Amino acid sequence: MTGTGRASGRRFDRDHGVTTQALFLLSQLGSSRREAYSHATHYEPVPVEAFCALLARVSSRFVRAATFVDVGSGMGRGVLLASEYPFKQIAGIELSPALHAIASANLAVAHSLQTQCRDVRLRCADARRTRFPKGNLVVFLFNPFDEVVVRAVLERILASRSERDEVLLLYHVPVHRDVVAEYAGEIIADTADGIVVRLTRSREGRDPSASRCSAVSRSLRNR
Ligand SMILES: C[S@@+](CC[C@H](N)C(=O)[O-])C[C@H]1O[C@@H](n2cnc3c(N)ncnc32)[C@H](O)[C@@H]1O
Repeated sequence: MTGTGRASGRRFDRDHGVTTQALFLLSQLGSSRREAYSHATHYEPVPVEAFCALLARVSSRFVRAATFVDVGSGMGRGVLLASEYPFKQIAGIELSPALHAIASANLAVAHSLQTQCRDVRLRCADARRTRFPKGNLVVFLFNPFDEVVVRAVLERILASRSERDEVLLLYHVPVHRDVVAEYAGEIIADTADGIVVRLTRSREGRDPSASRCSAVSRSLRNR
């Protein structure tokens, strides 16, 4: 994170009376969920500017029709920022009970947000095993876990979509973009803030868009 990111993160905490600015390894938290932690990265909150820049790539029409899901919601900065957008619903899924507790407290005390969505639900769970909300989704990842879990989570999300549902993935620090490329139907943005990708349920050979999909995959892999 840049110095500016940390400074604006501290300002975010001060302005809204919350605690989200911190950096530590999950192993420092201690837990019974050892296997899941072995795939996890660390806790760090998304820089405010990067989050807003990624969400600016999503049309307001889609936002109004979608549920926002922060997969690995940590202390809740992503869900608090998302609440300033008119999503139908917002969900945060966090593995660590300690971080989940802080996020819940933050949600209860946060003030001075320009709230546009009040239906915010936080869940303490392993994203590989939890049920994702139905309908259109805007899924947010800030490098939460390794490629094994990225794949498992994308499979789980897509397997539970209906034919008409759309899924946009916002991936900040997209370390495992190769895996995302396998599920990408369209790249909406690829910037220093991360990637915004429309996911597709169809794999090669399953759907007429398969050839376009391959081109998208190659393009994401080659960047
Ligand atoms: C880099 S932090 C991002 C926090 C938050 N999304 C934000 O942007 O402020 C990644 C988070 O993913 C969580 N995480 C890692 N593996 C997970 C899993 N299998 N299920 C749910 N959360 C997980 C970690 O505990 C950590 O809080």
